[in-house]
Amino acid sequence: MAKRVLVVGKGGREHALAWKLEQSPSRPRVYVAPGNGGTAHINVPISQTDISALVRFAAAEQIDLVIPGSEEPLSLGLVDPLRAADIPAVGPSLAASQLESSKAFAKQVMAEAGVPTAAWRVFEDGEAARQYLLGSTFPCVIKADGLAAGKGVFIVQDFREASAAIAACTSPALGGAGRRIVIEEYLQGEEISFFCLCDGRTALPLAAVQDHKRAFDGDTGPNTGGMGTYSPPAFWTAELEEQTMHQVVYPLLDDMARRGTPYQGVLFVGLMITAAGPKVLEFNVRFGDPEAQVLVLRLKSDLYEVLAACAAGRLEEVELQWDPAAAVCVVLAAPGYPGEYPKEIPLEIPALQDYEMVFHAGTVRRGGKLFSSGGRVLNACAVGQDLPAARKRAYQLVQRITFPQAHYRTDIGLRGLEVGLGCTRSGSTWGERTPTER
Ligand code: AMP
Ligand code: GLY
Repeated sequence: MAKRVLVVGKGGREHALAWKLEQSPSRPRVYVAPGNGGTAHINVPISQTDISALVRFAAAEQIDLVIPGSEEPLSLGLVDPLRAADIPAVGPSLAASQLESSKAFAKQVMAEAGVPTAAWRVFEDGEAARQYLLGSTFPCVIKADGLAAGKGVFIVQDFREASAAIAACTSPALGGAGRRIVIEEYLQGEEISFFCLCDGRTALPLAAVQDHKRAFDGDTGPNTGGMGTYSPPAFWTAELEEQTMHQVVYPLLDDMARRGTPYQGVLFVGLMITAAGPKVLEFNVRFGDPEAQVLVLRLKSDLYEVLAACAAGRLEEVELQWDPAAAVCVVLAAPGYPGEYPKEIPLEIPALQDYEMVFHAGTVRRGGKLFSSGGRVLNACAVGQDLPAARKRAYQLVQRITFPQAHYRTDIGLRGLEVGLGCTRSGSTWGERTPTER
């Protein structure tokens, strides 16, 4: 019987994962809860936060593998009841998912494990943080401890900006995410999203991706969930990956195991490549969005087999194959995103040519038509023999999409060219991959 897979979420990342899973040679039956307009043929109408309904569905439908896409179901503890019901899942337990849901927890683990990261202090309330800042140096970074959908991080230049940031962190709008506040050293360098799969014992490096977090060209404007990605970044070398595995990933896994909360699932290491080497900005306990979109376009291996091996603790058997090509993803967002934006904008996707793909994010299908339903709406993606070729194709695709008033950045991937390295075949993100020797 065909294997049955449930992807949980509704973004571009979940469409990308479902699309790749549907191509697995074993032809698994894929479901997405709740999904979007791009996955309408396989959607299940269950919210990604309705943990008990998701577990009931997985049990009733005899799901062989659950893949939570976003941090939300993980931080609500989806994986624990699944494991209790013997349903394999790719993701950490509630306890281990604190690596993303509490920045103070992540910093504590990094300190214990000796993981390089920005110097930091945790404050139990806004007033204590303000007092500390009176005697501190700027710029520095102020972060709400909890999940804040990208709205809880502020880079501040002086005490006045810092006070405003603390007020924003502690405001009811962040729903308690800023009960505790982390203040940390400002790091400079090239930012990278590095992904591993972990099965509690083994860590399998996937690949690195560069995201573009700010809303506007030239890395200006407010932070967003991510406005576009490309992979592989040429400055991510085999040496950097090796260093990151040995200085970050293995010490982290050892510490989590020692705490009695072994880490299993996707580990997203947000890194700053500083003059003093890679330092961790944050851990996420899932694939990135829109990082997953370019990862699945470059992955040649059977995603179902790889993720099933991760859930079953068999990662040491996996050998990954990557396409020696560049992939680019341009996010088309609703006008106004990440602030207020309209919905129900009519959309039309053109017929796709070779090496092109459109993943849906905030879209909904109604009466045979497609409308926007969120802030990040569509992902125009393309693959090319190098980064300039992939960029050109992705932006040609953007021009053929009908999306009135779409907001998108015109410089996705340019940074990869500006660092002077372009996209080369050097580095370890190409060819065969096996779990790294420890
Ligand atoms: P985080 O959610 O902690 O990754 O922070 C969101 C974004 O803020 C990151 O992607 C970085 O661009 C920026 N950021 C966070 N921490 C720092 C830091 N210590 N130094 C410089 N930039 C930072
Ligand atoms: N694109 C960044 C994230 O998924 O957190």
